[in-house]
Amino acid sequence: MIGSDSGECAPDAGGDFVETQIDTLQPIHFDIFTLFPTMFAGPLDESIIRRALDKALISICLHNIRDFTTDRHHICDDTPYGGGGGMIMKPEPIVRAVETVLTRPAGWSLAPDDVYVNLPPWSPETPAVLPAATPVILLTPQGRPLTQTVVAGLVQSRRLALICGRYEGIDERVRQIVTDEISLGDYVISGGELAAMIIVDAVTRQLPGALGYALGAHQDSHSPGLDGLLEGPQYTRPPLFRNQAIPPVLISGHHANVNRWRREQALLETLAKRPELLMRATLSPKDLAFLDAHGWTPVA
Ligand code: ADE
Repeated sequence: MIGSDSGECAPDAGGDFVETQIDTLQPIHFDIFTLFPTMFAGPLDESIIRRALDKALISICLHNIRDFTTDRHHICDDTPYGGGGGMIMKPEPIVRAVETVLTRPAGWSLAPDDVYVNLPPWSPETPAVLPAATPVILLTPQGRPLTQTVVAGLVQSRRLALICGRYEGIDERVRQIVTDEISLGDYVISGGELAAMIIVDAVTRQLPGALGYALGAHQDSHSPGLDGLLEGPQYTRPPLFRNQAIPPVLISGHHANVNRWRREQALLETLAKRPELLMRATLSPKDLAFLDAHGWTPVA
């Protein structure tokens, strides 16, 4: 259990953007299927995730795919048909793990004594009926790119299943039980575990109460509070550091000016670093005039 003292589950109690209906959200349960559950110990045991687990805003069960093997050597991979390098994840352990877990209530996981030897019955031939409301997400470079819009969609689910691929890929027939595929971006990492952690983090910070301040993630870059812009520069004490003073407006006490300055900085930040986001951002006539004065020309 992450953050508790028994087993694999966290305690049950314990532009390109979309407005998230955060006020009405219920807790979210994550079932994560991986060959390397210990990879999750650090990232999921700190900071915002830790607090969300403690406040029962989320719960997490880590399921070791290998636990669902019955052969003597607990093999989860094999050589690819047709030759070629690398190893492919076998379909049976993954499908057995996912079908066994998702046909049981959120929070269920295989008891340590039952690993390998006392698995619930499962049919390799007949597909289990999985709950339609639970997305079964494969983390893969072939998936749709993860964006704040994708995160906003995931937050609407009460239970999410994340399958972490490894080796050179998974047997194609696993896709029979997959309802969504998500990629971190156009590059390859060694497995889906880091991608799963990123999804847990991005989804969790959207939940009311997960962040320690009232507006939560609303003012994050890419979030609705910023209309699809990047967040501008921020400052804290000291007022002078290495001969660089903070912008005087921030200590003017004039809230309207501070807000306008922040908006303009967000516009400049986006113009400098990700100008293509401006085409999808929600911009007021004042924003457009400001951008125009700074050399931005919208391209259709
Ligand atoms: N596994 C390997 N590469 C990946 C990526 N880019 N996104 C998600 N999972 C992956």
